[in-house]
Amino acid sequence: MIKYIGSKRTLVPTITSVVGQLPDVHRVCDLFTGTTRVAQALKRAGCHVVANDIASYSYEFALAAIEADARRLDVERLRAILARLAALPGVEGYYTRTFCEEARYFQPKNGQRIDAIRDAIDELSVTRHERAILLTSLILAADRVDSTTGVQMAYLKGWAPRASNDLELRLPELLPGPGDASRDDAIRFVEGGGTRDIDLTYVDPPYNQHSYFGNYHIWESLVRHDLPEAYGIARKRTDTRDNRSVFNSSPKFREAFERLIRGIESRFILVSFNNEGYLADGHLLDILARKGFVAHLSVDFKRYVGAQIGIFNPSGQKVGKVSHLRNRESLFLVGDSKEVVQQAIEPHRPGAEQIRLALG
Ligand SMILES: C[S@@+](CC[C@H](N)C(=O)[O-])C[C@H]1O[C@@H](n2cnc3c(N)ncnc32)[C@H](O)[C@@H]1O
Repeated sequence: MIKYIGSKRTLVPTITSVVGQLPDVHRVCDLFTGTTRVAQALKRAGCHVVANDIASYSYEFALAAIEADARRLDVERLRAILARLAALPGVEGYYTRTFCEEARYFQPKNGQRIDAIRDAIDELSVTRHERAILLTSLILAADRVDSTTGVQMAYLKGWAPRASNDLELRLPELLPGPGDASRDDAIRFVEGGGTRDIDLTYVDPPYNQHSYFGNYHIWESLVRHDLPEAYGIARKRTDTRDNRSVFNSSPKFREAFERLIRGIESRFILVSFNNEGYLADGHLLDILARKGFVAHLSVDFKRYVGAQIGIFNPSGQKVGKVSHLRNRESLFLVGDSKEVVQQAIEPHRPGAEQIRLALG
């Protein structure tokens, strides 16, 4: 299970249950798909899913898990390729130098294997779905032996115990059925008609200043393999400085979100948001109510593990303090029938803090 801030792992059963209550929902778009966790659950539930994200690594995850149809893949061939890659001797290259010597994200023995495997992937004669599966396997393997709290803006002073394990390539879970992967800016995607033939659009944008491009710069570089210049203790790509999403900007968020919602053409919209976001529930409701009836479901969760143990700089000092350890996640369902949106969240009523219906 890859470590990813804002991943909706714990919300997935609620999301699939709400979507499952809605009539005639067959085609679904996950507009900010990240790990593709939600998209995978909806694909498993039988939906045709379009998984979109701006990040290169998310696109590869989406090609592997959503667009690739497991029934059409030669799994034995993939296993054989992974075994060959896993047997390669390590070489000292960009990843070892940047992330094991200049920083300490991985132990050198694993960094060297990452270098050898990443170079070899580009030499293989494989389809783009096979390539995405191999890249996903490498990223998941690297994530299992990293020495971070889940974000790549810092690494631990002492090695995390998992960092001394050997990098192990595994075949990621492959799902049967069709789907689509897309790598686009979400606003451009919806304004270009991307949700026209979609029944439900799931919207889970970044809702604070933390840039995914900066927080997951190693995954981005592993996919692009462009060996970028790096800066600072965290050895981030220099282009993280000018690669910020409009959804990471407090002054720009509201306008961008309004534009995004306005552009969505599907019959239903499901929005995830949490209490640490730029918009208060009331403002969100106002924006969403322009599209139809809105039902609001709110759930309390423990914050991600990094927040609970704190963030440390390379000298082992705690940098910043953990403000609170509870995280309230909200789901907003929008549709043009009051009865339908009400019925869809009815089974979750005992866990709901409030259920509010706004007239569109
Ligand atoms: C809260 S995370 C989504 C998490 C996802 N639901 C999951 O469970 O893994 C937000 C995602 O938005 C993506 N993102 C940021 N700006 C974007 C943009 N302008 N267009 C599309 N995706 C964007 C980030 O790369 C990140 O993966």
